[in-house]
Amino acid sequence: MKRTGFIAAAVMAAMFMVEPSPAAADPIPLKTLAAAARAGDGIMFGSAIQSALIDPDSDGDETYEQRAAAEFSLIAPENDLIWEVTEPTEPTREGGEWVHNYAWNRAEEVVDFADRNGQTIIGHHLVWHSSVPSWWPRMPGPDGKPIPNPEAYTPQVVREFLQDRVEDTVNRFEGRIGYWSVVNEVFAENGSWRPSIWQRAYPNPVPDSYGYIADSFRWAHAADANAKLYINEYGVEGNTAKARALYDLVKRLRNDNVPIHGVGFQTHRKLTDGLTGFADMLRRFADLGVEVYITEMDVRIHDTATSGVELLQQAEVYGRAVRACLDVAACKFINLWGFTDAHSWIGTVFHIGWGRATVLTNTLAAKPAYNRIAAELAGWTAPVQNMAGWWRLDDWVAPDDAAMVASDVSGHGRPAAVAGFALGNEGRMPGYTAFRGNGVSTQATTTGPVLQTPQSFTVSAWVSLTDTTRDQVVVSQDAATSAAFSIGFNVASQKWYFSMADTYAQGPGFYQVFSTVTPQPGAWTHVTGVWNRAWGRLVLYVNGKLNAAVAPPASFLPKASTGSLRIGAALNGRHLAGSISDVRAYQRVLSDAEILDATSLGYFGLNGQTGDTSFFLRDGSSRPEVIRWLGTPDQMPNALRLTAGPNDSTRIEAVAVDIRPQVLRTDRSYSVSAWVNLEATGDMVAVAQDGIHRSAFRLGVRAGKWSFAIPSADADVVTMQVVNGPTAVAGWTHLVGVYDAEARQIRLYVNNVAQTPAANVTSWASANTLHLGQALDAPRWVGGIDDVRIYQTPLTLNEISLIPARS
Ligand code: XIL
Repeated sequence: MKRTGFIAAAVMAAMFMVEPSPAAADPIPLKTLAAAARAGDGIMFGSAIQSALIDPDSDGDETYEQRAAAEFSLIAPENDLIWEVTEPTEPTREGGEWVHNYAWNRAEEVVDFADRNGQTIIGHHLVWHSSVPSWWPRMPGPDGKPIPNPEAYTPQVVREFLQDRVEDTVNRFEGRIGYWSVVNEVFAENGSWRPSIWQRAYPNPVPDSYGYIADSFRWAHAADANAKLYINEYGVEGNTAKARALYDLVKRLRNDNVPIHGVGFQTHRKLTDGLTGFADMLRRFADLGVEVYITEMDVRIHDTATSGVELLQQAEVYGRAVRACLDVAACKFINLWGFTDAHSWIGTVFHIGWGRATVLTNTLAAKPAYNRIAAELAGWTAPVQNMAGWWRLDDWVAPDDAAMVASDVSGHGRPAAVAGFALGNEGRMPGYTAFRGNGVSTQATTTGPVLQTPQSFTVSAWVSLTDTTRDQVVVSQDAATSAAFSIGFNVASQKWYFSMADTYAQGPGFYQVFSTVTPQPGAWTHVTGVWNRAWGRLVLYVNGKLNAAVAPPASFLPKASTGSLRIGAALNGRHLAGSISDVRAYQRVLSDAEILDATSLGYFGLNGQTGDTSFFLRDGSSRPEVIRWLGTPDQMPNALRLTAGPNDSTRIEAVAVDIRPQVLRTDRSYSVSAWVNLEATGDMVAVAQDGIHRSAFRLGVRAGKWSFAIPSADADVVTMQVVNGPTAVAGWTHLVGVYDAEARQIRLYVNNVAQTPAANVTSWASANTLHLGQALDAPRWVGGIDDVRIYQTPLTLNEISLIPARS
């Protein structure tokens, strides 16, 4: 969906112009649009600026200066407050105290500039592993370049330096700097503590580097009690190991009453980033009671991209970030890391060849990104909440957490309080967690009803049972003395069921529908119950497929429910032993296609971004960052286009998109759907998931025909189990490959036409990357790939016909 900007009345009201003059045609500054956004509960909009360019009495850059003053309500000194700049010479020791030779001139210039222009300042950064002054003794690093010598000072001295650095800097600007990035980048990518001189100065830094972080916040707060203090990090906009570590840290700091008021998401991104899940992430942190900020945003594109598609992709990423911030009330500002391509660290310091990451050109002309930000700020409206509640149940839990809450990411704010240590357990895929019921006491409970049970509704969940010897409930909602509805496992029949209580209790007092399939312990299954009031049916779907339906008598009136929605239990017990993930509730009937869609393990729309909009929200990446796209030159691309490298007759250099962590369990039934368009001849692969020696499947072209193939083992010598289709020709073609573990079949559908299946097939587990355009053991794809959907279920022809056409 595209939101075109119009100038809302609120925006006009926020302008201090009494009557429009000819200058009214000038664009409204971002700060004004931002302040008026969110119906007046707006945000600040800022940028990093460089002191050298605003130098009042020398060679500053006047247009830069004027623009910075006019456009922004917030300013960050880009490098003028970092330690190596503020303390260029070594302190001396006198009478047991350190005497520091500070140089505040550069920071003062920026702060004065902000004061003159009525701007708020964010101070970057008090404590950072980088930016150790050059006077700090060095030793040769692994690459021969000198690095700070960790042994140079005793831990005691380093802690004194840290305290002085924090206290003196905050003190110096007390009342003038409103926000401090207190600690920056304390984690490595895998979520472990990042080594630094500060970290090593505290005892036991490896198991726990918490000490220097907590101290820094306390010292900063003591120096200026009115400043807002935040922790700053990059690579935490999506569900990464680092984001989870940061979450646990912030939770711990809050539990310990450490004065932390916010979390800064740097948001240095690139043009293909989907930013899927960013708003969820902001919301999760906000639920810890902190504000959230976008602190250093830029979106890198090629230096050569002065027109065309990359500028649109860039605008899209900026637009998504603005929308994510506005969607979350606790998000208070967006700060750009530079506002003109003439002065950006991207392309010079970082990612050479990938400059033009900002929103204005070298000559301060608006790029599509600038216009897009303005449009998002002006046109934002509260998102329409399609769901009544959505508990992903993948909340992160610190080991010592006492009270767990399953957050509701639907936007309705209906979190579920968790009884017992049920969250944070192994989930549906490696790297993802789920709710784990102990069968006795665990459950997650909302404070009030989520659904009006007399009206039509739909509830779905993923569940994996460990015990099939008793009745258990996956999800229910309370009436006065029992559940108004429940979905669960029925021991007598050994089936899934969906049950609803009758107000008048004529007949049995409730009506229920049983599945025809029998749950297998340990197998994740998607179960959906639909109460279709107009049609008068209770309908049960298993793994996205309509499985069974019953029609209660016309007198049936579902019991009204005024109590909690419960996950993993019902009002009268029946606690589930096993795992639950991804519980969704809707106050309407979902279509068959929508229910099928919820079972997808990956959906890559590939409209200029490589994000996954399924539950897992994985952002795919392309290794050499040179993927191309298909579409009209002045519009967002509508498909991926992979081409061979310049000297690449064997297509080894052709690019591919990598998706991690593991997407599919290839030892169980699954389906892979993709639209493809050929631009070369020979064998090639559109979608594959890797094992160690082999890809576990490949969907693509083999011996000139459309083909779905599964090697018999993850070994060098294998038998290829293959379904071939008709001759592969150019033009968009829809391919679906299906592995049916029960039938031991593989099937291929070409443009919804079933090909002759292969029988007696075996598949095996593969735990590595899913690729678009590449396999371990076949040439790469050359041509278009679009709308890739992955399901952990063997689709039938009927279901395949529900898959939407490519968009
Ligand atoms: C960058 C500056 O923009 C560069 O000029 C400097 O050479 C290196 O630092 N994350 C941060 C910022 O927290 O402080 C960094 O700023 C960019 C990455």
